[in-house]
Amino acid sequence: MKRITIAAMTALIFITAKADDGSRLWLNKQRGACTAKIETSDKSDIAQTAVSELAAFWNGCDIILSRDKSLPDNDGFKIERSGKNGSLIVKARRSAGLLYGAYELLRMQQTKGEIYSGKTGQDTNLSAADNKFRISPSVCVSSSSPAFPYRILNHWDNPDGSVERGYAGKSIWKWDEINGEKGTMSMDLKERLTIYCRANASIGINGSVLNNVNASPYILTTEYLDKIKVIADMMRPYGIKTYLAVNFASPMAAGGLETADPADAKVKEWWEKKVKEIYKKIPDFGGFLVKANSEGQPGPGDYHRTHAEGANMLAKALAPYNGIVMWRSFVYGNHEGEDRVKQAVTEFEELDGKFADNVILQSKNGPLDFQPREPYAPIFDRMKHTPMWVELQITQEYLGQSRHLVYLAPMWKEFFTFVSPQQLQGIAGVANTGDNTNWCGHPFSQSNWYAFGRLAWNPELASDSIAREWLAQTFTRDTAFINPMTAVMEASREACVDYMMPLGLHHIFKADHHYGPEPDGLYPNYPIEWCPVYYHKADSLGIGFDRTRTGTDAVGQYRHPYDSIYNDINACPEEYLLWFHHVSWDYKMKNGKTLWENLSAHYNRGVDEVRRFIGTWQRMRPYVDTERFMIVSALLDHQLENAEEWRDTCLGYFGKISGKIQETATETSA
Ligand code: GCU
Repeated sequence: MKRITIAAMTALIFITAKADDGSRLWLNKQRGACTAKIETSDKSDIAQTAVSELAAFWNGCDIILSRDKSLPDNDGFKIERSGKNGSLIVKARRSAGLLYGAYELLRMQQTKGEIYSGKTGQDTNLSAADNKFRISPSVCVSSSSPAFPYRILNHWDNPDGSVERGYAGKSIWKWDEINGEKGTMSMDLKERLTIYCRANASIGINGSVLNNVNASPYILTTEYLDKIKVIADMMRPYGIKTYLAVNFASPMAAGGLETADPADAKVKEWWEKKVKEIYKKIPDFGGFLVKANSEGQPGPGDYHRTHAEGANMLAKALAPYNGIVMWRSFVYGNHEGEDRVKQAVTEFEELDGKFADNVILQSKNGPLDFQPREPYAPIFDRMKHTPMWVELQITQEYLGQSRHLVYLAPMWKEFFTFVSPQQLQGIAGVANTGDNTNWCGHPFSQSNWYAFGRLAWNPELASDSIAREWLAQTFTRDTAFINPMTAVMEASREACVDYMMPLGLHHIFKADHHYGPEPDGLYPNYPIEWCPVYYHKADSLGIGFDRTRTGTDAVGQYRHPYDSIYNDINACPEEYLLWFHHVSWDYKMKNGKTLWENLSAHYNRGVDEVRRFIGTWQRMRPYVDTERFMIVSALLDHQLENAEEWRDTCLGYFGKISGKIQETATETSA
């Protein structure tokens, strides 16, 4: 297919924009011809949502939704056969569990075919061709409870409608379509947000931080709070709590005070009053997310107070209402000269044990910043007395944005091999939603929203089975489509690492937009941590960042045995090699080839993989509607172009620096 320009491609993605299109998500599309009885004695709004979802989309047998106090106190559920006429009973301790159980049934129906529980004797001869799925004849059909009590989306949406690192159009919150005084919103917005709520609830997401961590103080003005109440009221029946990101200097910008010092009595009083105002409007408000003293944001450090002093002041205001503070550990720049990846531990470790009970430390999965591959962040090893959450980035800031097909579940699963989910109280995902017709920009970027929710519920799920579920619900159940496309999705993240930054390379992106490569980037007017040359440190002798004991000693922050494994060039996993070591160009790697040869091979492999993805996609034409087929084809072509650009730019630059330039980038490529 002929290549198209970025501008033409963007037009193609946005061309059909229509406010209310949920049919492009994994959600049930066809309303069922439900004749089944759906019953519950739970009168709560959440249970009623479960009933209406089943009534609209379920095609199977009768269902009873029943609260059961003997079950553990979490959002889990059990689905059993009730015994009579093959009907089902969903049991849950909480109303939310009934809703999640209902969605589990709808997911089974969508991924497996019409659910057929049948009476004994009736259901034995079903074949795949019947397009029916016979549920287990055993008593328990399904039983599940979430790994994390908090499963939260972090929107980086600004009140002006822009989205920080958003690649799917403008913000989904249309503030001017919400009338805070009347408590209403436009029909269009209501429809669109209903789909948003259904999508989240269907995968177990139970909270949403509505605004950017680089928070506008004005989000706390009464004008916005009235509008936020309208959103909170709409999300509540879907079990989704509302949270806000707050600017630490809000008492000054939005309250007219002269300081935001957390020890100042007037400042404390301002926050207490503000919190009271919020809870009056939103009684189940979740709490505050705070980015403080990071990348120019204000914080307690401005008044020589610690993160703990700042967080605890907010926590005290929220505690009477059971609200929480999610304090981010993403800080750097406060310790001049120190390796950036060490700074979170430097800053927070000494505060371990000093945070109030309702403060949670929210940390990115890696110690730098959502790179295609990072080792896990050692802060998860170091904080022993502070509740921790991991923050994952669903929006593909550094992974090709909404232009590359990159399925992130394998990357997130990798994190959980180092950090046990049991260590964490919650999980946050930086959302990739926008007002674009297909919600996430790239049709396949939706799979990352979906996978985030599924892994937040159960991090043990295999990434390929999540991919299969999503493909079946979003495209077709035909295995001739699902098998090859699952393989593409599963391979896509490694391909991205290969064509962007293999073997532990990191942050060699063009400044600001973080899309293309700029290995020679050195910007005199910016901090050195923003310059690619700081990260790869390529010179005539070798390449990579020496973080060993004799380098910056970042390895020293890891628990044993990772500290010694990463420190030892021979033991260090090759995928992290240049993250931890400065390595000679002619260093012999495990396969007997030199570092330079391996680097070239990885870059070429990444490009070849994208070419392979294109070939597979072209064969998928019979299974996909024309519109999505064309969009994905165009995006994959663009991805290939960009992958080639990465390879040629990086190998060209490193080839020159190392003197290996004669081994050109393309020579081994197909
Ligand atoms: C990255 C990203 C910023 C964001 C920041 C954060 O640096 O580029 O846009 O604000 O992370 O997580 O706070």
